[in-house]
Amino acid sequence: MKIGVFDSGVGGLTVLRALLRHIPEADYLYLGDTARLPYGAKSRATVARYATSSARHLTEQGAEFLVIACNTASALALDAIREAVEVPVLGVVETGANAADASSTTRDVLVIATAATVESHAYAGACGERRMRAMEKACPLLVPLVEEGWIEHPVTAEVLRIYLAELMEQARGAELNPDTLVLGCTHYPLLRAQIEKAVPRSLRVIDSAEVTAEQVAGMLKVAKDGRRGKTRFFATDSVTKFRALGSRFLGQEIGEVELVDLETAAGNR
Ligand code: DGL
Repeated sequence: MKIGVFDSGVGGLTVLRALLRHIPEADYLYLGDTARLPYGAKSRATVARYATSSARHLTEQGAEFLVIACNTASALALDAIREAVEVPVLGVVETGANAADASSTTRDVLVIATAATVESHAYAGACGERRMRAMEKACPLLVPLVEEGWIEHPVTAEVLRIYLAELMEQARGAELNPDTLVLGCTHYPLLRAQIEKAVPRSLRVIDSAEVTAEQVAGMLKVAKDGRRGKTRFFATDSVTKFRALGSRFLGQEIGEVELVDLETAAGNR
């Protein structure tokens, strides 16, 4: 089984990391569309165009199942991706909402994400379908801070404090009683410890990486034969930068990264 994992950049490697733990027997193809990141500040049409060309690249390389490990692409372009490829596609908004569903007893949840994800209200919709109310907040400064490697930096701590205080205030204003905070962006799990410090202890912080991997494992039922699959990495911009930053997200060294050009006629149909 070859599983394609796609993100706008390196953030989706947190999902690949969980997948490697749950289904080590599968082969993986990971694509980070680093040349066109950030998706989180772009329009639905642009995100759909970028995401479908990325998804097609993965299926052309042999992916038999696609995990859209990018919240923005999942929120804005899941239908377009499903139309563009002939393999099953799973997005992380759905799995994130499932994780919130399992976590929340008050049925009020908070979601932090990119501006595009929040504007799409994909999380509010997915939570509503599961009988939860969701208060969403865009945190556009967090992706560049993580990309810069400012994980434990005082500037990041202050930015987080401001965003999360505003969100808690908004939730109070709307008379919500949230018990769960969803990290609705692939970069945010790297800030998890800082986020947990900045919110009340009563709020459970969840990200979709683990639950996504569990869901894929349940869907694919790959035979446990002790085999260890191979992983190929693709990036659309500097492979050196991908390797350096990506190793932090994956939690292990990344070896070879193949540079791909999705802007050419072949990729950008
Ligand atoms: N991967 C994006 C997400 O999960 C964050 C980075 C971007 O804006 O492209 O929403």
